[in-house]
Amino acid sequence: MTIVKPAPKARASTETRTLTIRDDSTGETYVLPVEDGAIKASDLAKIPGGSDGAGLLTYDPGFMATAAVKSAITYIDGDRGILRYRGYPIEELAERCSFLEIAHLLLGGELPAEEELARWQDEITHHTFIHENIKKFIDGFRHDAHPMGILMSTVAALSTFYPEAKRIADERARRSQIVRLIAKMPTIAAFAYRHAAGLPYVYPDNDLSYTGNFLNMMWKTTELKYDPDPVLERALEVLFILHADHEQNCSTSTVRVVGSSRSDPYSAVAAGIGALYGPLHGGANEQVLRMLEDIGSVDRIPEHIERVKKGELRLMGFGHRIYKSYDPRAKLIKTIADDVFAVTRRSPLLDIALELEKIALEDEYFVSHKLYPNVDFYSGLIYQAMGFPVEMFTSLFAIGRTPGWLAQWEEGLLDPDQRIARPRQIYTGADLRHVD
Ligand code: ACO
Repeated sequence: MTIVKPAPKARASTETRTLTIRDDSTGETYVLPVEDGAIKASDLAKIPGGSDGAGLLTYDPGFMATAAVKSAITYIDGDRGILRYRGYPIEELAERCSFLEIAHLLLGGELPAEEELARWQDEITHHTFIHENIKKFIDGFRHDAHPMGILMSTVAALSTFYPEAKRIADERARRSQIVRLIAKMPTIAAFAYRHAAGLPYVYPDNDLSYTGNFLNMMWKTTELKYDPDPVLERALEVLFILHADHEQNCSTSTVRVVGSSRSDPYSAVAAGIGALYGPLHGGANEQVLRMLEDIGSVDRIPEHIERVKKGELRLMGFGHRIYKSYDPRAKLIKTIADDVFAVTRRSPLLDIALELEKIALEDEYFVSHKLYPNVDFYSGLIYQAMGFPVEMFTSLFAIGRTPGWLAQWEEGLLDPDQRIARPRQIYTGADLRHVD
């Protein structure tokens, strides 16, 4: 029997769990330690017999069962519909905190005390302006450029404005870039919209809250001072909170992977924005709206459901890699929708969404596949009621997710276990051959 020895434990554990693997081709038995519910892939690799003569690999497209990091930021229990940031339930945070408190919590591990919060807000507020050259840069995009394309490129371009961002080992330099990214993301997103709409840019108003100022940069026209509607301001704030982190999702993993090569945070976050852009991730809220518009009326829902069941389409805003009972964010968002629609016009698409949800939740296909509405199902309707064009939806997600990306980026950098990300492959191509 070969023992693959356990690595020293970071934390004392009261029980030692092991996994015994028998290789039927050799009759050899291997005992692998199980720590935190995982075996180490490097222990598995000590077992000979991999495809290229090396050790055994796991084949895991989409990382369905691979933990690549240890993280103390966000806890999710997908079966029970639980989401916590740094231990706090999302429901309590959404009800009682501001977005900047959440950013502080995700990044530093604790909710800020009153004075700390005042300093943190002040710091973020004083970095909301962008260099005038960035405005010129945004001006260069076509009038119909997608805001996510503008956001991604402009965030990447920020690295050229702050060369000290490369000093990722310097805590103060890291902190400066974190503040800048959180502060400037709404400004860039709003400027991208104003550019597409052919409207003049509106500069940040430092008297307003983080979210109030974003609404100001989006919507201010000729009034001397923009006065955000408090219900809409709070609703958007809660939406930002609900999007602030979601552990190792596609965009966050991208940020970590890029960060693992020690590039600057602007480049890492720009890559994360690229990942978020896709219709299976943050782009889904845009797709939900388009799907509801395509369906057009309640009586056409059964036809749409049939096409989904035949595999011709996916029901956008349904399903989640992790949540298999319900998405707690979707539940909270549904309650926000009521507050928002009390202020704005009720979206005519809401009836279609409600009926679609009702039918899908009763339908055998969706029940057996454990498909429930996710965070994106209702958020698009709220954004639309607030006046945001559909193309802006994913940028709103990106603003909310920025503190999470940065917290995860920094955690990855400071984790001594982490190495440059470099997955393995199983080669399936041609064997050696020669040019005739
Ligand atoms: N509509 C119809 N069927 C679906 C859907 C859906 N929305 N989602 C999954 N399924 C089906 C698949 O066809 C598959 O069926 P099969 O086993 O019979 O072949 C099964 O459920 C499993 O689907 P996968 O794609 O393997 O599930 P995965 O965990 O990889 O995908 C994902 C999760 C990408 C979110 C998927 O549910 C989806 O495409 N949803 C629609 C897009 C969406 O709303 N994305 C937003 C997610 S939330 C976020 O990113 C913030």
